[in-house]
Amino acid sequence: MAASSLLSLMFLISTLLLASSSLSVAPNPTTFTIPLSPIFTKHQPSDAIKTLNSLASSSPTRAHHLKHPKSKPPLTKTKVFSRSYGGYSISLSFGTPPQAISFLLDTGSSAVWFPCTSRYFCADCDIDPSKIPLFIPKLSSSSKFIDCQNPNCARISSSNILSGCQQACPFLFSYGKGTSSGLLLSETLDFPEKLFTNFLVGCSIFSTQQPPAGIAGFGRTPESLPSQLGLSKFSYCLISQRFNDTSESSDLVLYRGSSSDAKTPGLSYTPFRKNPVSIDSALRDYYYVDLLKVIVGRKSVNIPYKYLVLENNANRHGGTIVDSGFTYTRMLKPIFDAVAKVFEAEMAEMGNFPRASADVGALFDLNLCFNITGLKFEKIKFPELTFEFKGGAKLELPAANYFEPFDVFFDVGNSTSTFACLTIMSDSGQDLDGPAIILGNTQQQNFYVEFDLENDRFGFRKQTCNKK
Ligand SMILES: *[C@@H]1O[C@H](CO)[C@@H](O)[C@H](O)[C@H]1NC(C)=O
Ligand SMILES: *[C@@H]1O[C@H](CO)[C@@H](O)[C@H](O)[C@H]1NC(C)=O
Ligand SMILES: *[C@@H]1O[C@H](CO)[C@@H](O)[C@H](O)[C@H]1NC(C)=O
Repeated sequence: MAASSLLSLMFLISTLLLASSSLSVAPNPTTFTIPLSPIFTKHQPSDAIKTLNSLASSSPTRAHHLKHPKSKPPLTKTKVFSRSYGGYSISLSFGTPPQAISFLLDTGSSAVWFPCTSRYFCADCDIDPSKIPLFIPKLSSSSKFIDCQNPNCARISSSNILSGCQQACPFLFSYGKGTSSGLLLSETLDFPEKLFTNFLVGCSIFSTQQPPAGIAGFGRTPESLPSQLGLSKFSYCLISQRFNDTSESSDLVLYRGSSSDAKTPGLSYTPFRKNPVSIDSALRDYYYVDLLKVIVGRKSVNIPYKYLVLENNANRHGGTIVDSGFTYTRMLKPIFDAVAKVFEAEMAEMGNFPRASADVGALFDLNLCFNITGLKFEKIKFPELTFEFKGGAKLELPAANYFEPFDVFFDVGNSTSTFACLTIMSDSGQDLDGPAIILGNTQQQNFYVEFDLENDRFGFRKQTCNKK
């Protein structure tokens, strides 16, 4: 849809819906937890993943509070679910009375929006529209559309879309893949422990290539959920990604108020790097960390330093970000090629595992696969993979976090071969802009992960996240 027709659609809708708004300052402290479950991602659901796509509703369950001996109790806990679309979802309740909506948990963006009104339309979304849970502003007494004069409108909406703003404030959020657009809303966000009034959330009316859910941006800019709630810290533990809508879940825990600089027991930390100054707002959303070494087997991969460390100049490329909304880790081609070369050598040494042709990997949007036909995937001892960060924190990944088995049927020969593919993707090699490495959710499975916003650091420890 062209931008102009999109705008007229939104203005039509804005005149249909009532616009009145006022903002007040959000109230004060506590901590929350929210359940997490996987969903497919905004960025790269591969065809293989898409075929597995099926939906289920994730019931919002209230988990009990985490006990932290000395630090403050969390504001809340909420469940996180694994989703068929390759991402992890949480359920948040908005409005009066509350309406529960599923959101992709996304640390790689900042805006918060939900599929909204009975007119919501999702193009290229590969999903049954009737399966998308919708927020209906008409049914909420606390829904207020933000008008064009409201300072929050200019802050969140992009300026080119604002030039035509007449009544209600339009937004257009862009992602690695796809967009979402609609009108900005002020609503009450409802946790069992606390209500947050005047939360700014996008009422999306038209999306392209989005999951059957909203997106809860946990990034670093002021419109993100952590910023709006004034969180000092949040943590999650992603259960094994099954590309399926299971009822299993783990917790997302939200903390408010200062908790000093005490470290959580057992966590290794690395500092967040300052975001680059850039006109590209996406770069301000990201959580950058300094990944200094990639170790495969016993070999340290030779990667030029210029890719690993963010250049804070006009080119603003390089560096590593942590992105829960991205399924498979993606590396810049020169980095990926160096990593793949070491894997290939180590696999050959281990036992004659030939690298499969590029066509095989392409079936899954992956770039490095080995033919393991006749062997049990679980029995293969893959070369170890370790990411070492500034400060010495080492992310030692279990094989399930970076290899996955796939069966492929070949007409020629009438037979099925099994492949183990590295669940790390290479970028096309065309574009040097943006982060050189995006650390996806597949690589974060079964780690307890903490975003300590107050102390600007990222912490993690290995942990089995699946609860009974
Ligand atoms: C997903 O879950 C459903 C129901 O539990 C099951 O029938 C199906 O085989 C699962 N799909 C995959 C790919 O695991
Ligand atoms: C994979 O290996 C098996 C067993 O060695 C072989 O029969 C099969 O042809 C191979 N598949 C491909 C696509 O090369
Ligand atoms: C392919 O293999 C299956 C099972 O081995 C067999 O039943 C079928 O007849 C074969 N088809 C062809 C075209 O050879």
